[in-house]
Amino acid sequence: MSVTSSGSATYSDALEGSNAKRGLWSSRFAFILAATGSAVGLGNIWKFPYVTGENGGGAFVLVYLLCIAIVGIPIMMAEVMIGRRGGRSPVNSIRLITERDRLNPAWKLVGAIGVLAGFLILSFYSVIGGWAISYVGTTASGQLAGQSAEAVGAIFSGLLSNPSTLMLWHTVFMVLVMIVVARGVRSGLERAVSILMPALFVLLLMVVGYAMTTGHFGQAAAFLFQPDFSKLTTSGVLVALGHAFFTLSLGMAVMMAYGSYLPKKISIAKTSITVSVIDTGVALLAGLAIFPIVFANGLEPGAGPGLIFQTLPLAFGQMPMGTLFGTLFFVLLIFAAWTSGISLLEPIVEWLEEQKGMNRTISTIAAGGVCWALGIASVLSLNLWADVAPLGFIPMLEGKTIFDLLDFFTANILLPLGGLLVALFAGWVMSRQAMENELSLSPTMFNLWFIIVRFVTPVAVAIVFIYNLM
Ligand code: PHE
Repeated sequence: MSVTSSGSATYSDALEGSNAKRGLWSSRFAFILAATGSAVGLGNIWKFPYVTGENGGGAFVLVYLLCIAIVGIPIMMAEVMIGRRGGRSPVNSIRLITERDRLNPAWKLVGAIGVLAGFLILSFYSVIGGWAISYVGTTASGQLAGQSAEAVGAIFSGLLSNPSTLMLWHTVFMVLVMIVVARGVRSGLERAVSILMPALFVLLLMVVGYAMTTGHFGQAAAFLFQPDFSKLTTSGVLVALGHAFFTLSLGMAVMMAYGSYLPKKISIAKTSITVSVIDTGVALLAGLAIFPIVFANGLEPGAGPGLIFQTLPLAFGQMPMGTLFGTLFFVLLIFAAWTSGISLLEPIVEWLEEQKGMNRTISTIAAGGVCWALGIASVLSLNLWADVAPLGFIPMLEGKTIFDLLDFFTANILLPLGGLLVALFAGWVMSRQAMENELSLSPTMFNLWFIIVRFVTPVAVAIVFIYNLM
């Protein structure tokens, strides 16, 4: 079953192929791998700890968890369901459903938002992926062993101040993503994910184990899990909501694309919950690994996007065999980022193939090239353009660099907007009978889900948007 007009192997083809070849794997497991590969990435390990630190800890984490449970999981179910019902790429799935049920074709906009969000996110995602690549060398060379917090901080600022090094690693990351997307994702990658993801989990556990010896574990746990609502702002709520979409890869039709390959007999609810729980677990573990180190070394929890690059190297510099484990950790982080990067580029490439009739190689080069070029703005935001705040006249966006703006606009505006449209489509437009068939839940559970996508999600997203505009 091939979705793309070119007929070349896609990520999802590989998914199916891998099932055929490896009978031992249930299809549910293959879907969970692909979806988890997309969901678990820099969002969990890089972004979650630093946005939590910037937004004061516990209360923010609580809102984020609520957003995952009452907005994220239902929207993931809706995306997977629409994808499976349509059985095509996102834009065509929605077109098919709208034609079949004589609905307004403008709903294709959901796919268009996905393509735009993919472009913008991948442009800066690749720059951060580049940081991870650069840290493999930094760690492996043993430079970090026994270093002080100042020295580790200086290594990081040294990296940021150097546009050509940043460009080099940004380019390497983008090329890695493009190679896989251009060739069509082979089953090898799914196999890799099934080994590398658990390995990442184990290494994170080891860092958590180290963090427990710092004597600041209790303080960190309190920071993460004791809500202090006086520290929560309305923009913090928006960031929590946006991050829930970002970390679960929602709002840009990725899960829709993957859902189109899910066999009918598999429970959409169970698989969506599994993916969300794994994703949330990795984020919380990252928090428990990083904050004890932050407090033990008197670092600033709100240090921003550099947080993990200023804390984890300290841990690796101090723990036994830290050079080995640290190197391994950053290699695994690259893999986590890589599988997410692939899922960001794939929808754009499919769209170019379908709409513009380009072949897969050309569309990958075109799409990847544009993302790469856009990424230059993010690279420069970290040094030469660090003081350039193009939309600084808007109070909420004061002091935000181009990099900050891209992150803000995609995660906090575009993805929730995409998710809102998905919720409206499922809650108000699609045939109820069709959805009952796809989800095959008990009547109570179906109604609960239906009320959430019909009312709760749209109202929640609207309220958060409106509050932040005011
Ligand atoms: N979920 C990925 C992460 O947490 C990022 C991502 C967002 C991937 C949207 C695909 C779509 O790193």
